[in-house]
Amino acid sequence: MMTKNKSFSTLLVLLALMPVLAFSAPKNDSHMEWWRDARFGMFIHWGLYSVQGGEWKGTDYGKEQGGASAEWLMNSANIPKEEYRNTLAPKFNPTEFDAAKWVSTAKKAGMKYMVITSKHHDGFCLFETEATDYNVMEASPFKRDIIKELSEECAKQGIKFGVYYSQFKDWYHRSRGRGNPGTMSTEAYLDLVEKNLDELLSNYGEMAVLWFDTGGNDVIEADAQGARVRELQPNAVICSRLYSRRVPVGKRKYADFESLPDRMLPKKRMTEDAETCMTMRHNWGYDRNDDAWKSSKDIIEFLALCGARGVNLLLNVGPMPEGTLLPEEIERLKEVGEWMKVNGESIYGTNYSPVDFDFWWGAMTQKDKTIYLHVLEWKLEGIEFNGIVGKPSKAYFLADPKRKALPVTYKANGHVTKVEVPANAPDSRNTVIAVEYDAPIVTDQDAKGKYYWYTNRRVRHTDIRQSENAGRHALPEAVTGD
Ligand code: GLC
Repeated sequence: MMTKNKSFSTLLVLLALMPVLAFSAPKNDSHMEWWRDARFGMFIHWGLYSVQGGEWKGTDYGKEQGGASAEWLMNSANIPKEEYRNTLAPKFNPTEFDAAKWVSTAKKAGMKYMVITSKHHDGFCLFETEATDYNVMEASPFKRDIIKELSEECAKQGIKFGVYYSQFKDWYHRSRGRGNPGTMSTEAYLDLVEKNLDELLSNYGEMAVLWFDTGGNDVIEADAQGARVRELQPNAVICSRLYSRRVPVGKRKYADFESLPDRMLPKKRMTEDAETCMTMRHNWGYDRNDDAWKSSKDIIEFLALCGARGVNLLLNVGPMPEGTLLPEEIERLKEVGEWMKVNGESIYGTNYSPVDFDFWWGAMTQKDKTIYLHVLEWKLEGIEFNGIVGKPSKAYFLADPKRKALPVTYKANGHVTKVEVPANAPDSRNTVIAVEYDAPIVTDQDAKGKYYWYTNRRVRHTDIRQSENAGRHALPEAVTGD
C-alpha cells in the first residue's frame, strides 16, 4: 500500500514537472565524465617555430606581445610565407623525440590527458595529411607522424589524447595583415580544414579532446566543424574556442567546456565545465631566453586554486627543437607529480569549493562528505574557516598515512571551524587537510569572506606570482571577455 501511495505521489510530482522537464531536456554529457574527474592535463606547443626559440635574424620576438609569444614568430617578425616555410621546415628534425618519455612524464606528473598543437597559426601540420604538403612527413626531414606516435603512446600508457587545432587563424590564409596577408582562398582553406579534421578524427584511434583555438564569428562554419567531430568521434570533448568569444554562450552548440582566456583563474567558482590553460614561464612555444619560470609551488598552488574554482588546468610545455622537454619542465613536473601522488585525492573528481571565497591560508575543494583545505600559507594559530555548518567528524593531513586526527573546534555562532596544526607546515607548497563530515555538507548561505587568491585579466600576463600579500587582497572581478 505504502509503495503504491508513494509511486502515486511520485507520478503526481512527475506530471507537475513535465513542462519543466520537457523544456530543459537533460544534456547527454556522459562523455564529459572522465574530463571532469581528470582536472589536470598537459598542453604541448610544438612546431616549426620551436626551431627558432623566439629569435629571428638576431631579434628576440619571444616576449609576450598581446596574446603572442614564441609560437607567433611568423607573425611577430613579419616573415614572408615562403621564407618561413623554406627556412624552418628543413630544420625541423627532432631526432631526440620519444613519445614514450613525454607521455610517461605527463603521467607521472599526475596529468590525465594530453593536448598537442597538431596545427598552430603558422599552418604546419605535425601529422600526415593529404590536404597539404606543408606537413611533417613531406616538408621536414623528420618524416615521422608525431600525432600518431603520441596518440599510440597515450593509449598504451592509459592517458587521454587530444589535439589543439587552429581552425580559423592560419597565416597562409586570411587572418594576417602587416603587409604579409594570407593568399589562400577561403574556399580552399575550409576544404583543408575539413580534410585535416577528418584525418585527425579518423586515423588516430580515440581523439579525446578537440582543442580548437580562436574561432571566428561564423557560427555556421563552426557548427559544421563541431558536427563533424560529433559524427566521427562522438565522445570527443570539444573546446569552446571552436567559436569566437563574441558568439553568445547559448549559441555555442558544440562547445563542451568553456576555455577561459589564457592563464586566467576566475575570481568566483564556475558552475559550468571550464578549463584554464597556463604556461610554466611566459611563452607557450619554446623560447631560448625566457627565464620567467614559475616554481613548482606556484604550479601546485595554481592547480589547487583551479580545483577550488571548479576549473580544469591544462599546463603547458614548449619542447625544444631536438624533441625533448626542457630540464626545467621535467623537474617541475616531477615535483608536481610527487605532490599529486600523495594529495591527488584532493584534486581528482572533486567539486569546486563549497563557499564562494578563499581564506587567508588558501582555498577548498570538496568531494562527497569531505572538504579538502589547500593550505598555501601557514599560520600556527590554526587553520580556521567559516561557511560550513556543523562540526566535522575528523580532520587529518592527507599526506599522513596514519590519518592521525587533528584537534578541531567548532563555533556554531558564525559557523567557524578551526583545525589545530603544528608550528611548521608539513608541506610548504600546499599542505592538504582533509575535513570529514558524517552527513552531507551544508553551507551557510549567509557566509561571507573577503579573501580571493588570484590572477585577474589586468595582470594575467605577469602570470601567477608568489607574494607576501598573496591572498590578502580582495581582488577585482574576474573578466569574462577575451
Ligand atoms: C592564444 C595564442 C596562442 C596559444 C593559445 C594558448 O590563443 O594565440 O599562441 O596557442 O593562446 O591558449
